[in-house]
Amino acid sequence: MSEKINLPPKHIAIIMDGNGRWATARNLPRSAGHKEGAKAVRRVIEAAPELGIDFITLYAFSTENWSRPKEEIDTLMDLLEKTLDEYQKSATKQNLRIWVSGEREPLPYNILQKIDKLVQSTASHTGLTVNLALNYGARQEIIHAVNQLLAQGKKQISAQDIATHLYQPQLPEPELIIRTSAEQRLSNFLLWQAAYSEFYFTSVLWPDFDKEELKKAVLDYQHRQRRFGGV
Ligand code: IPE
Ligand code: IPE
Ligand code: MG
Repeated sequence: MSEKINLPPKHIAIIMDGNGRWATARNLPRSAGHKEGAKAVRRVIEAAPELGIDFITLYAFSTENWSRPKEEIDTLMDLLEKTLDEYQKSATKQNLRIWVSGEREPLPYNILQKIDKLVQSTASHTGLTVNLALNYGARQEIIHAVNQLLAQGKKQISAQDIATHLYQPQLPEPELIIRTSAEQRLSNFLLWQAAYSEFYFTSVLWPDFDKEELKKAVLDYQHRQRRFGGV
């Protein structure tokens, strides 16, 4: 009997980790690793639709990443701004729909403006949805949902209530979560949505991640047996 092959995941979420170590291993400043990491983002966005993926969530900056040195944060914000500019130009051609998950405060005003413009101008696109987890923390996301429900006067809440008040309620739960750089933890990523996600950990550092690596993860996922508590 042939082994059961699942459909490709519709939604993949990626913890893009290892930029700093990639640079340090080459005697380069950490900023060089982030620059190279931005190229990997482009590769993955290009490859995802070819692999049958409809949604991709990219963990770009966590609420805890503000604790890094100011210089590194400035580099990351500069890169983010450049990436937003780039996709403002290319998203239409690639039919990308850009969404963002995270808190707005304390992101700089110019970044927020560019995000709003990009989200607005790509809203009707029908290709890959790229959800940028930016200034994102999963605990904050759950708190945000509960606070919205409290503001509506709810006295009791259901799982469905929480799910419909997350940052992107239309986003399906990720079937697969990938983390690069050999770390095996969630680091405050998608705590609610990951309840039944499959995990794929690779020692590849994010700047080295490409279509082949993404394909490997998808193939690995397709051989998993998902039981959801059943038999
Ligand atoms: C991931 O790479 C990028 C961000 C968290 C913004 P790191 O910067 O965490 O790289 P390492 O983990 O130090 O190698
Ligand atoms: C997780 O990576 C956050 C992002 C990839 C944006 P970190 O490098 O910040 O996570 P920890 O500190 O190793 O848990
Ligand atoms: Mg890291």
